[in-house]
Amino acid sequence: MSKPRVFVTRQIPSAGLDLILTHTNAEVWPEPLPPSYDVLREKAAPCEGLVSLLTDRIDAELLDACPKLRVISNYAVGFNNIDVPAATQRGICVGNTPGVLTDATADMAFCLLIAAARRLVDGFHYGQANKWLTWEPLGHIGQDLVGRTLGIVGMGRIGYAMAKRCRLGWEMNVIYHDQQANAQAETVLGAKKVDFATLLRESDFVSVHTDLNETTRGMFNAAAFAQMKRTAVFVNTARGPIVVEQDLIDALNGGVIFAAGLDVTDPEPPQPNSPLFRTPNLIVAPHIASATTGTRNAMAEICAKNLLAGLAGTDLPAWVNPEVSPQRRRG
Ligand code: DGY
Repeated sequence: MSKPRVFVTRQIPSAGLDLILTHTNAEVWPEPLPPSYDVLREKAAPCEGLVSLLTDRIDAELLDACPKLRVISNYAVGFNNIDVPAATQRGICVGNTPGVLTDATADMAFCLLIAAARRLVDGFHYGQANKWLTWEPLGHIGQDLVGRTLGIVGMGRIGYAMAKRCRLGWEMNVIYHDQQANAQAETVLGAKKVDFATLLRESDFVSVHTDLNETTRGMFNAAAFAQMKRTAVFVNTARGPIVVEQDLIDALNGGVIFAAGLDVTDPEPPQPNSPLFRTPNLIVAPHIASATTGTRNAMAEICAKNLLAGLAGTDLPAWVNPEVSPQRRRG
């Protein structure tokens, strides 16, 4: 029996790629930059399986060009790059990689929070520029962390892991905004669910962990920043378009909030000469929250297992659209 045809849009760790190469007839895009939309459509068109990254736009038009496609396995927990309802409508399974990147992402959120609160990157640039002339009693003053209030937007797995670090390590009070209550966060961490305005008003640190959807797109805009404390630190490790970037830059330059740390931007990468890299109290990382060996290997394994299950017609271990099951395409 011939092996199913698969397109993999980038090299992923061998922990998953070897499995894919063993069990499928896979073509792996060899370039460091993603295939263009047109190339992706052409490569995916004859395939039964597709391994995609968050940089690959998979919309209805692309799916229409892929009549045999049975499974899309996204190498990410987020799947806003995929039109999932369109995939479901066409009987195509979609998988993602939840769980395994929770700790790495929460670590990065905390890393950005403490680095921004303590002005670490500014301090490094200061030394680099030979401006460090003496110990300054009034210079480089940042924010204390212990006992302050952390506001989590999106108390899912990653939001909880971030809240846990801040509560158990730094004795912070935790408040959160989410459509659903998180009983574990309330019982174990004493977290309190509040409305968005209360979260903005009361938080010393705001950390975003919600997914990107039509409700959260542009949620952090000038009006939101204006409601935050002038000493507040804002962190986003979720998705760039949740923030109106120009409004964030204006808020930082205008002293509306104290500092910010971003692991995600809109677009990614930012435009050349983006003001994001010229705003002194802003730290920007190149979407690296899941970038640890163990995490990326675990993501690759789940990604491969989702792909193979989708091709075999069995349940995907991490299935974004299980409702597709009764009408899923079969080989
Ligand atoms: C994800 O998985 O959605 C992250 O943004 C990248 O690992």
